[in-house]
Amino acid sequence: MKITHKVYFSNAVLIALIVLISAFALHDLDQILTKFRFTVIADQLNASFLTMRLAEKNYFLYGDLDTLSEIDEMIGTATSSMEAVKADIIRAVGHDNYKKLNRKLVAYGHRVDETRQAAKEGVGLEGKRRTQMRLRLAGRHLKEFSENITEMERDRVGRIIAGSKTILFYSFLGVVFFALFFTYLIVNNIGLSLRKVVEFTQMISRGNYEKIAERYPNNEMGAVISAVNTMAEDLQNREKEILQSKRLASIGILVAGVAHELNNPLNNISMMAQTYVEVYENLQKEQRIEFMQRVEEETERLRIIIKNLLDFSRAKERHLVENKANNVVQKTIALVRNMLNISNIQLQLDLADDLPTIYVDEHQVQQVLVNITTNAIQAMGDTGVLFLRSHYISDVDEIEIEVRDTGSGIESKFLDHIFDPFFTTKEEGGTGLGLWVSYGIIKNHGGNLRVESSADDGTAFFITLPSCKSVKECCNGKS
Ligand SMILES: Nc1ncnc2c1ncn2[C@@H]1O[C@H](COP(=O)(O)OP(=O)(O)O)[C@@H](O)[C@H]1O
Ligand SMILES: [Mg+2]
Repeated sequence: MKITHKVYFSNAVLIALIVLISAFALHDLDQILTKFRFTVIADQLNASFLTMRLAEKNYFLYGDLDTLSEIDEMIGTATSSMEAVKADIIRAVGHDNYKKLNRKLVAYGHRVDETRQAAKEGVGLEGKRRTQMRLRLAGRHLKEFSENITEMERDRVGRIIAGSKTILFYSFLGVVFFALFFTYLIVNNIGLSLRKVVEFTQMISRGNYEKIAERYPNNEMGAVISAVNTMAEDLQNREKEILQSKRLASIGILVAGVAHELNNPLNNISMMAQTYVEVYENLQKEQRIEFMQRVEEETERLRIIIKNLLDFSRAKERHLVENKANNVVQKTIALVRNMLNISNIQLQLDLADDLPTIYVDEHQVQQVLVNITTNAIQAMGDTGVLFLRSHYISDVDEIEIEVRDTGSGIESKFLDHIFDPFFTTKEEGGTGLGLWVSYGIIKNHGGNLRVESSADDGTAFFITLPSCKSVKECCNGKS
């Protein structure tokens, strides 16, 4: 069910409940009003019945026939006022009670007539007493009946009010419970879906493009989840396209560079061979040897370029094992020790103890370290200090190896190009492939290679590699 439909539905149910409760309350109020109107009328009637009975007593005291006429008049007034509000009385106490009250009033009127008749006919003491008794009795019945039904109606009003209070209280509780329950259902529903979307977008930002779910709820949140899924798919496709175009671009640079780099020595060899053939007869033995040595040098240049390219292509076939970063650093030092000694360069080590292990191809990482330290040694020339430092960055669970020199530094305009294939500033012996190959190796290990350099302070390269714990295959291998 869609969320908007759920909201509409719950609102409709709430409105229906409130209408029902209001109808109940209105019905009760109407009943109370009817009863209230009756008690006002009844109070007036009771007052007039009381006046009649007082007049009745006066008659018995003084025997004045005019008093009986007054009672007659009062009975007439009461009858006509009862007639006027007949509908109200019937609605409040029912038809039967109205009739009974009317009959009692008529009976009282008859007794008044009877008493008057007896007085006129001058009946004996006994007859007089009997008619008086009957009149009194009729008066008392009338008054008592009227007071009783008034009291009954008052009770009934009290009961209706108490009942209404209870119904209103429980209805209010019901409405509140219902509103809270629906709000909880809807909020819970939206909250769950939103949490999923948040988790998913976090996953996307970490480069994981798995779908949130294969099936979504058929509501607005489902539409959001589906849109986010589509976005993830688009992002993934775009990332693939970018990677592909980057790969094509670097292959383009590589091919152009290879062609250019191979062309130069090949041209030289070809030119020297032609010249050699042309001038062969006139050449001394030493000159012939010199020619051949220069061909050999050019061939050596070709060999180095091809070796580097092969190194690069082999960089993809890795033999990963759990290893200690300091171990790889120490083995590299052994390889470059001789170069350091020749160039009179001092070595300063700062290797942290108890580093977490790394999961690497030892030879490849060693190749990276050799490339970087060779560059450093070349940049320092005859003298300088080479710093090698290793430490652990706990926030990202990575090992960092820093190679710092006190050499010439890198011009800022070259900084963006040093990792490009065939970029070199060296006039002799530079292939421009060392850093390019190194960058590829470190990236392939899930790490990073960056540089900081200035003409005053020299250059520092930072190699970061994930600790074995953060590499899925490594942990699996251990457990
Ligand atoms: N430690 C360093 N100090 C100064 N320049 C450096 C350093 N390391 C690298 N470079 C610069 O980066 C360029 C590319 O290095 P690299 O890829 O190893 O190729 P190559 O050493 O064959 O020139 C070098 O030619 C040099 O200009
Ligand atoms: Mg180099």
